[in-house]
Amino acid sequence: MDFHVLTLFPEMVSGGLNTSIIGRAIDKGLISLNTINIRDFSKDKHNRVDDYPYGGGAGMVIQAEPVYLAYNHLAGQIQEKTANQDKKKPRVIYVTPQGPVFDQKKAQELSEEEDLIFLCGHYEGIDERVLEMIVTDYISIGDYVLTGGELPAMVMIDAIARLIPGVLNNEVSSEFESLHDNLLEYPQYTRPEVFCGRSVPEILLSGHHANIEAWRREQAIKRTYERRPDLLPGANLTKKEQEYLNRLVEQNGQKEGQKTK
Ligand code: ADE
Repeated sequence: MDFHVLTLFPEMVSGGLNTSIIGRAIDKGLISLNTINIRDFSKDKHNRVDDYPYGGGAGMVIQAEPVYLAYNHLAGQIQEKTANQDKKKPRVIYVTPQGPVFDQKKAQELSEEEDLIFLCGHYEGIDERVLEMIVTDYISIGDYVLTGGELPAMVMIDAIARLIPGVLNNEVSSEFESLHDNLLEYPQYTRPEVFCGRSVPEILLSGHHANIEAWRREQAIKRTYERRPDLLPGANLTKKEQEYLNRLVEQNGQKEGQKTK
């Protein structure tokens, strides 16, 4: 998978992503990160890329032309790479609080693309006309406003890249951890067996794999019920697991009832 980022701050993106697991995946050639500085495509003698908004108002708007030229340059690079293969145009994601909120399902869907282009805005945004011309997806990382699109692009690239085979050392772990199957991850423990008087749950020391798996599923359900009950309708529970959840709900109802007495 090749990630491409159109940005005014390429060093922020490459600095953040060239470390740790994602940095190692880049070194190994499992993914690549190509940052394109929009400012390099300014035709202004002072390299300016922004101007006042038509109609007035606060802040500055990034002009259409440098974004369009940067995009065309990148599209040419990608076309060269895939020459003669009759490839469809890569998706262009504009990171903006105005899009639907990114989630694990979207990360999975995007991880199946060969190239992804992220367009990062700053100031009061980008001239609408170039967005209409090049953007295929508008995606937000949450209902809050950041100063620019670089951090959201990095968040999404991290979440997508770790789903690509070989990026995580442990192939199974991306499948089984938090949010797989809409359940939060079960609690984890490592040595020592007792820490500050708190013991590791007995069952994890039993060596009985089937019982451990069942316990972990229950813990995942319990944790999701307590911390993110909104996720539960999307979880695939067996009949037995659904009964376990029903018992949790019932117990919680009794506790709530006692509190109000
Ligand atoms: N740019 C500024 N804030 C953002 C957000 N919450 N998500 C995506 N892009 C953004």
